[in-house]
Amino acid sequence: MSSLPTAPAFTAATAPGALPVLGHGLRLLRGPIGFLSSLHEHGDLVAVRLGPTTAQVPCHPALLARVLEDDRLFDKGGVFYDRAREVAGNGLVTCPHRDHRRQRRLVQSAFRRSQLAHYAGAVQAEVDAAAAGWRPGLVVDAFPVCYGIALRTLARTLYSTAVDAELATGVERAFDTVLNGLFRQMFLPAPVRRLPLPANLRHRRALAYLHAATRQLIAAHRSGDRDGADGDGTGGDGTGGGCSDLLSALLAAGDGATGDVARGPGAAGGAGGATGAGLSDAEVHDQVITLLAAGTETVAATLVWTLWRLSLHPAAAEQVRAELDAVLPHGRAPRPEDLPRLAAVDRVVSETLRLHPPGWLFTRITTAPTELAGRPLPTGSTLVFSPAAVSRHPAAHRSPAVFDPDRWRPERLTPAARLGFLPFGAGARRCVGDLFARAECALVLAALLSRWRFVPEPGADLRPVPLATVLRPRRLRLRLAER
Ligand code: HEM
Repeated sequence: MSSLPTAPAFTAATAPGALPVLGHGLRLLRGPIGFLSSLHEHGDLVAVRLGPTTAQVPCHPALLARVLEDDRLFDKGGVFYDRAREVAGNGLVTCPHRDHRRQRRLVQSAFRRSQLAHYAGAVQAEVDAAAAGWRPGLVVDAFPVCYGIALRTLARTLYSTAVDAELATGVERAFDTVLNGLFRQMFLPAPVRRLPLPANLRHRRALAYLHAATRQLIAAHRSGDRDGADGDGTGGDGTGGGCSDLLSALLAAGDGATGDVARGPGAAGGAGGATGAGLSDAEVHDQVITLLAAGTETVAATLVWTLWRLSLHPAAAEQVRAELDAVLPHGRAPRPEDLPRLAAVDRVVSETLRLHPPGWLFTRITTAPTELAGRPLPTGSTLVFSPAAVSRHPAAHRSPAVFDPDRWRPERLTPAARLGFLPFGAGARRCVGDLFARAECALVLAALLSRWRFVPEPGADLRPVPLATVLRPRRLRLRLAER
């Protein structure tokens, strides 16, 4: 394994094979991970052309770390985030550096470790509900099942409300249209996006539905119309008096700070009020839609890839089963305090996230002239990075293409491996839901795998859904077998 080069050793190059007009866009769309993972063969920083935009791709993990650590110079922006803002407004994922620290501090309160324990009950309830009718021999469609668990778990933890089936299906369909249209929208010029084409109209209708559903959920929560069954109301985390769900914590962050923040000057769109104030109403709305977008498909995809990987790797599956038998005797339901003892489950999830990080492409924009790998970058330069490509870089891992959960055993872990592990990003913009997601995945997997074995049905198509925002298989049906 090579050591990490220092600054002068980094090389800059231009990817060969750009087509007129489209540049490398077609290759990116046809085989995104293969294309992005191959770029390091040309250099550590590689210029690609995506239609009219030239983008710089930091391929070396250490070079990418430098970019992600400086979130003022390499700010959120560029083709991906410009389109994402149309969905999530100025929420925590999409907001620029100037709004970030204040928003992050407020949202973070809902993700403290002490809060996570409150959310575990929701996970178990949703797994139980999803698996209620299961019997040996039944064949289930993996993604919709995992998506349902992830969406309903998040909704319960956000709102302390069991989301009814109609709303859950509506939100799932609308996100499917909106998120999976995002990359298509990325490559279309603005005048084409405004045309009344069927795809554009579908996109707009789905977006309007999501905003209406979000408003309705916040209003219902504010009026106290929630079941409260998942929390004990004693939060004890200092976010304004015992917030047992995420939305309570977000609303308390708004109400607690300045009172009438929603109507403060500059509050519209969420960009104003950066004086240590709380979250405006517009920002709460943006955060809710942001968390729904960021925290459901990602978790569902991780669960699906993990179940598939385990079905192919009997040794890893056996380690997991042995651990579950020891930690959860007689099929007892997993509890948050079991998490530190689910080390084999955790390693399998890490290795799955390394090879199948759900978020596979993100962008940044430079806010001042700078230089990277010896290449001058003017203000406004676009950078593209891919956690999927960097985690397959030979500087990060020996045999990077091999699924090997044991590479995450503490005695085998290297600084280079840590640096190349970016499924949750890095630096100040690292995923705020990383612990939440990992805990949720571990609890869902523990609950499912302590009772069932999942055997892929013939005809599975593991190629990622084309142009999807989140990497997930096109088709995976699993047959249930008793353990
Ligand atoms: C396995 C599941 C997940 C993965 C792989 C994932 C991945 C990521 C990545 C890569 C970023 C950074 C993007 C960038 O740097 O441009 C990010 C940011 C973020 N994620 Fe996640 N995420 C997951 C689950 C969640 C969950 C469950 C939530 C919330 C409920 C969430 C909320 C967020 C938010 C709010 C940000 C923006 C953080 C900031 O800029 O301060 N994510 N996520």
